[in-house]
Amino acid sequence: MDKDIYILAIESSCDETAAAVIKNGRHVCSNVIFSQIELHKLYGGVVPEIASRKHIEKINQVIEGALREASMKLEQMDAVAVTYGPGLVGALLVGVAEAKAIAYAAGKPLVGVHHIEGHIAANYIENLDLEPPFMCLVVSGGHTHLVKVKDYDKFEIVGRTRDDAAGEAFDKVARAIGLGYPGGPKIDRLAKEGDKEAIAFPRAKVEDHPYDFSFSGLKSSVLNYLNQCEMKGITVNQADVAASFQYAVIDVLTTHTIQATKAMGMDKLAVAGGVASNSSLRESLGAACEKERIRFYHPSPVFCTDNAAMIGTAGYYAYINGVRHGLDLNAVPNLKLGQRL
Ligand code: KG4
Ligand code: ZN
Repeated sequence: MDKDIYILAIESSCDETAAAVIKNGRHVCSNVIFSQIELHKLYGGVVPEIASRKHIEKINQVIEGALREASMKLEQMDAVAVTYGPGLVGALLVGVAEAKAIAYAAGKPLVGVHHIEGHIAANYIENLDLEPPFMCLVVSGGHTHLVKVKDYDKFEIVGRTRDDAAGEAFDKVARAIGLGYPGGPKIDRLAKEGDKEAIAFPRAKVEDHPYDFSFSGLKSSVLNYLNQCEMKGITVNQADVAASFQYAVIDVLTTHTIQATKAMGMDKLAVAGGVASNSSLRESLGAACEKERIRFYHPSPVFCTDNAAMIGTAGYYAYINGVRHGLDLNAVPNLKLGQRL
């Protein structure tokens, strides 16, 4: 039998300090996440300088925790995988410097991983039958991309947001209705108590680009609605605003995604990124896929938001495809999908 391959993976691109051990690409031996949310909550969003400092404080602990939880030693690892972009430069640098130090000290190969490729790869963890090609809707705090996954290392972006990312829109609207940070999970919860048809918020189309998205108009429309209510002395029904806003986002995401999947002759659709843990988005995509006879895949919520298991899975496929980085690997805050540096 072939020897098992173990990857030690590190993720620090935003406000989660995370490490994981992955066996043969899809088996999670450990997945340790230190979330900084409580710290950034005070400021209503991620403060980059604070994020970097906390990463430095926590990263060794998190890596030791991942090895301990997997009952493994660093020597048993075949490679060290790390997110090197996109993300906050100071935050990324902590993970990259740590991974380089470990790889050098332990004499292990270093594999740099694209954060979004990691989010997409999260789908492989629990769906052992999923293999490219498939369509993937990536919806996170920083990205909204419709990606044709042609192979484990080949991606084509067929649609993207022209302004705010879906998660960003959730966070901004949540702040406007006083729910605090991070807004996505709070809107998700509150929306269940509201009427999604109560307020008709707009669904933006991008002229000549049917698979692109735009959420800034929707966000402005919610802010206008709230201002008007205030001016007229009307009490805002927060749950109705949450439900109607969420419905507008999900409606556009579902329609464009299904249209693109069908138009490109794909029979599998996956969803990835923090917003992929939204219960209504999953229901909506799931129902549309069933109608169109498309197989629908999604990761468990813990693998949707930032984690290192997904980086280990993407890192495994890069590793077996021969990707190796030198000790000159740097953080690339605006790394493009499919780009290798
Ligand atoms: O993927 P992620 O953890 O970080 C980035 O790479 O950006 O995504 C974080 C985003 C935040 O904007 C958060 O509000 C959103 O994902 N999010 C959600 C839900 N859980 C997290 N949005 C909607 N519904 C959720 N349940
Ligand atoms: Zn992410």
